[in-house]
Amino acid sequence: MSLHDFMGSASIVRRRPGRFSALSVFIILCLYFSVYHIPIRLESVPTQPSISSRPLEEIPPRIWQIFFGYTPIKDFVPFIQSWVTKNQDYAYTLMSNDGGNTFARKHYADRPDILKPFLDLQFPVLRSDLLRYMILETEGGVYSDLDTNVLKSVRDWIPKDMKSKVHAIVGIEYDQLGGQPEFGMTEPLQFCQWTMAASRGHPILKKVVEDVVHALQAMADRKNTTISELKPEDDEVVEVSGPVIWTRTVMQSMSEMTGTPIDYRNMTGMTEPRLFGDVLVLPIDGFGTGQPHSNSGKDGTGNAYIRHIVIDEGLSSALIIEDDADWDVNMRSQLHEFANRSRELGNTLHDSSERITDATPTQSPYGDDWDILWIGACAWPPAPADSGGFPGAGDRNYMVFWARGGMACTWGYAINSRSAKTLLAWLLDINEAVDFHMGKYCERSNCVSIWPPLIGAHTAAGPQRKDSDIRNTPSEARERGETMWIVNSAIMDMQQKLGHKAPFNQ
Ligand SMILES: *[C@@H]1O[C@H](CO)[C@@H](O)[C@H](O)[C@H]1NC(C)=O
Ligand SMILES: *[C@@H]1O[C@H](CO)[C@@H](O)[C@H](O)[C@H]1NC(C)=O
Ligand SMILES: *[C@@H]1O[C@H](CO)[C@@H](O)[C@H](O)[C@H]1NC(C)=O
Repeated sequence: MSLHDFMGSASIVRRRPGRFSALSVFIILCLYFSVYHIPIRLESVPTQPSISSRPLEEIPPRIWQIFFGYTPIKDFVPFIQSWVTKNQDYAYTLMSNDGGNTFARKHYADRPDILKPFLDLQFPVLRSDLLRYMILETEGGVYSDLDTNVLKSVRDWIPKDMKSKVHAIVGIEYDQLGGQPEFGMTEPLQFCQWTMAASRGHPILKKVVEDVVHALQAMADRKNTTISELKPEDDEVVEVSGPVIWTRTVMQSMSEMTGTPIDYRNMTGMTEPRLFGDVLVLPIDGFGTGQPHSNSGKDGTGNAYIRHIVIDEGLSSALIIEDDADWDVNMRSQLHEFANRSRELGNTLHDSSERITDATPTQSPYGDDWDILWIGACAWPPAPADSGGFPGAGDRNYMVFWARGGMACTWGYAINSRSAKTLLAWLLDINEAVDFHMGKYCERSNCVSIWPPLIGAHTAAGPQRKDSDIRNTPSEARERGETMWIVNSAIMDMQQKLGHKAPFNQ
């Protein structure tokens, strides 16, 4: 969610797990794949959808990415480099918008039912979705979005004992694990389609190309418009061309291939790659590690083969909070105070002539000079004289200051799109904890922090081993839950209210 929304409403939305997070910037990690050789060609594209029994070739050594030119290509250079340098024996193709049309005319000349809708389609995200399926259907290989950083050579992606059996690879990006759905998710388990691989002519890709074209036409009919005029919302895109339709198609095809009903129940909670028919399904830490849900790994090491970084165009800022985050019941008013101090700090960067005296900032209520608003950090505030504070609850004053050193913990922070790009390039070769890296980034950037933090990590009553996946923790149980440093914890307050007790003050 944007910080603007945040100021205006008391609700908090977590990082949205779908790839379409209009609301967030997030980091996902992606994996696997393999491959080489044996050209068995499909002579022609069949005119009927068919789950063919024809033997498929292996996934060819080709890497495909799509670039429609809406952001400067230089933003993606480090990511592209990771693909090229780690896979030097693979063919690499960066497909442009016009290149996509040429490609479609060549491969779908005898399929006007697909070619025409594709050429008509204007809306970039829909085009990019359909094009990636068409590329894998007709040529095969690996498709990945431009904002992914591959950490491991594609050749090493498939477990050795499965190599000859695998003709498609999909990764789980979201797993509800029997709990409540994350914001915006409609499927209990979702595969990502920002990275995937398939052999040429794989039945899943044939089916998804047709399913997407039908869904586009159905949406156009429903909206009384044409495919070329479609301007869907994010949640509609996810349904008609994105991960939702992809997930449904993959599940249906796998059921047909194996002759058994396959759905999310067959794979929820899995931790190792598993074969369903000839489709290798990667567990959450394959394609989705580093997310605050689905039991994914926290730090992005281990099984991560690709890191996915979504930088939403047009999104000015995003608030990212950890899944065990807790905040003060007075957060809304605290944010107003924080915004005021943040603007004042920003002013100190300018000559007095350019200072904004007006209380209305031009872009953000927090001022226009910040890179990160690190509102949930373990910080070491400088001396009070350097920072602008405001009175907190009880005897605590909140200190608002430039985070120029000694920063750790990423319980909550807001980032704007400009700094997201720089920070993520900076994080590419990460080999230590993300929070320390972000601390270093802040030493040379403009990060505004606050102490005590506005967002903290709640540790629940019960076994302490649940606190962390990365630290050893004492074996004895904790008697009561707590959120360190948060004065009036929202979680504790909720528990008090449910028990009809007086407001809680830690
Ligand atoms: C559909 O669009 C056409 C032309 O754009 C218009 O004449 C017609 O009234 C619309 N129908 C509905 C149900 O909106
Ligand atoms: C998937 O689960 C269903 C039961 O929910 C079972 O009948 C089927 O055999 C399973 N398929 C595979 C391939 O594990
Ligand atoms: C911001 O803080 C200053 C100093 O405490 C105060 O004078 C001013 O009224 C505040 N502005 C707003 C918009 O709250």
